[in-house]
Amino acid sequence: MTPTVIITGASQGIGKATALLFAQKGYDIVLAARSPERLEAAAAEIRNLGRKALAIPTDVTNVEQVNALVNKALDFYSNIDVLVNNAGICLTGPIENTSLNDWRQMMDTNFWAYLYAIQALLPHFLQRGAGTIVNVGSFGGKMPLPYMTAYCTSKYAVTGLTDSLRLELEPKGIHVCAVQPSVTKSDFMERAQFRGQDEKAAQEYRQQMSNLLATSMASQPQDVAQAIWDVVKHQKAEVVVGSGAILSTAHRLFPGLMQWVMAKQIKSPKS
Ligand SMILES: NC(=O)c1ccc[n+]([C@@H]2O[C@H](COP(=O)([O-])OP(=O)(O)OC[C@H]3O[C@@H](n4cnc5c(N)ncnc54)[C@H](OP(=O)(O)O)[C@@H]3O)[C@@H](O)[C@H]2O)c1
Repeated sequence: MTPTVIITGASQGIGKATALLFAQKGYDIVLAARSPERLEAAAAEIRNLGRKALAIPTDVTNVEQVNALVNKALDFYSNIDVLVNNAGICLTGPIENTSLNDWRQMMDTNFWAYLYAIQALLPHFLQRGAGTIVNVGSFGGKMPLPYMTAYCTSKYAVTGLTDSLRLELEPKGIHVCAVQPSVTKSDFMERAQFRGQDEKAAQEYRQQMSNLLATSMASQPQDVAQAIWDVVKHQKAEVVVGSGAILSTAHRLFPGLMQWVMAKQIKSPKS
């Protein structure tokens, strides 16, 4: 039987690169994101590779839409082998300029949506005694990043969810794993939000992020897609992709030193 995967945020960036890689490896794909046109374009690329692709426009922050996504996927393929929770957004700015709505949007997209998809698919995985859940987090879910408190909080929540759930579901035949990208040249700047005490300060944060993306430190979406394939194929617990691997290891070993280094490196536009 042809293996199948549901990928959220599959219309662009890391999710789309992952969809194409899994199709090349022989998977049939379910793609979810909000923009129907981009989703259909990604689905067409997969069909050109000779695999089936089902594009389901979904806002993953809406639990009913996520339930419908999983039901439609199961109706179409009968069987789902892998869930890749990937749709996510990024927000940079000082805490005093981050509104409660910003926090809610961050947690709704980066954390709650992951849980919605897991809850919806879990009965199917438990019934089969098999399945793989990949949660795409961030190196910001392994170490603190200055002026990214809401983002890091959402990603630390994903790390906690992934590590705890793995303990619980491994004996039931379900593998739960994490891929933690570092700065990656995807399409995230289209959706990334920047906050500051005024528009100029917000634009300076945007510029800092653009500068980081232009360095050789940045990974490519295909690097992250390869890591997602790797954790599924080899049933690994976690892969940290790119420069964040060294930084997060240094943070684990020398937390105080790394806090000092990060604070020196990344400054508020005011300071
Ligand atoms: N790029 C980086 O530097 C980086 C670093 C660390 C971690 N990550 C993580 O990697 C994952 C993928 O990010 P990316 O860089 O590939 O971002 P991206 O290029 O902006 O792609 C994001 C994808 O998610 C979809 N999406 C966003 N909000 C959604 C929603 N509410 N409902 C459904 N789909 C939604 C987008 O499509 P629509 O807008 O059409 O819905 C798009 O397909 C995220 O979890 C991100 O946090 C990225």
